[in-house]
Amino acid sequence: MKLSNRIQRVEGSKTARFIPLIEGLKRQDRPVISLAIGEPTVDTPAPIIDATKRALDRQETRYVDMAGLMGLRTALADRFDGCGPENIVVFNGSKQALYAIFQTICDPGDQVIIPVPCWVSYAEQVRLAGAEPVLVPTKDHQLDPDAMAAAVTEKTKAILINSPNNPTGAVYPRGDLEAIARLAVQNDLFVIADEAYDFFVYDNLPFFSLYDPAPLRDRLILTRSFSKHYAMTGFRVGYAVAPTAVAAAMVRLQSHLTGNVCTFAQHGAMAALEMDEDLLIRRRADLQHKRDLAFDQLAGLFPCIRPQGAFYLFPDVSDHLRKGETSGDFAARILEKTAVAVVPGEDFGMDGHVRICFAAPDDRLLDAFERIREVL
Ligand SMILES: Cc1ncc(COP(=O)(O)O)c(C=O)c1O
Repeated sequence: MKLSNRIQRVEGSKTARFIPLIEGLKRQDRPVISLAIGEPTVDTPAPIIDATKRALDRQETRYVDMAGLMGLRTALADRFDGCGPENIVVFNGSKQALYAIFQTICDPGDQVIIPVPCWVSYAEQVRLAGAEPVLVPTKDHQLDPDAMAAAVTEKTKAILINSPNNPTGAVYPRGDLEAIARLAVQNDLFVIADEAYDFFVYDNLPFFSLYDPAPLRDRLILTRSFSKHYAMTGFRVGYAVAPTAVAAAMVRLQSHLTGNVCTFAQHGAMAALEMDEDLLIRRRADLQHKRDLAFDQLAGLFPCIRPQGAFYLFPDVSDHLRKGETSGDFAARILEKTAVAVVPGEDFGMDGHVRICFAAPDDRLLDAFERIREVL
């Protein structure tokens, strides 16, 4: 029996290929340092855990509104000028929000423009919607609005922007984002803004959200997440902010897909919104410190553009590649020799690089770089 063409066109997570290698190292009692997974190692804040436990104690364990708890949607809508709860849809992480967006706006044959390097799931999610990802190179990790304009065809349905960016940590300046907004309006395109890391921008650099230009709002679908900011990756709570008709269509999809997001996890998310912003400010300062620490460690190892946001370094390792070696082979070699796990750039559509997550304890970061330095 044959599986669908749709699923056969989709690749699973490439990082899974390292699992047997990691298991093998563990069996040899070699402690692995993973700088591969994009999640903070700090604890989920106590008020969030407490609110979740209280919700469980109250038996908040039933089906609820498929768009998300009204209290959560109202609290989120208050953060976006001119937005009401009808514009918010809560999903199982922003990953599912993005999946729902492509299912909602794309028809087979449509194209979605995505600057590369980019997060691993976009292209596959676009393909799952029967559409085609059009990957447009960036320049020194920054947007190239002219190249993006040149990529627009009559099949283009949307442009996807991810700032702060995973894997590069680039934060796009207002001028470039306004150029993308103009491009979208001129060509009647949707804009999808993945802002999973919006608060984690360093050096007091201003963060410009694509929600800010009001003329874009009737074509903007924005996603954000509780995962990274509040160390809630396993709660699986993210959301989309969308024009009313698009949000309603996504809820129709949700109604046949998962129904509501875990009820007590949504209570945890509500508690996160009630917390003092100081926590996020402290986390951001700590991540900036880790960014500096990790970036300094790279000196003399690999050239790297200094990340301005998120929590990744994306150094150029091409000088260390052996003949015919890809970044995947290099990452496997590093893992085997040093027991440090990083993600190959080819997984993000840019070979010759690796992604290193610096949201890890300082001593583990220092140990990892020491091991890599020794081997290289
Ligand atoms: C850029 C980006 N978008 C979306 C996600 C999805 O995050 P979540 O589904 O946990 O909200 C991630 C997770 O790594 C990410 O890096």
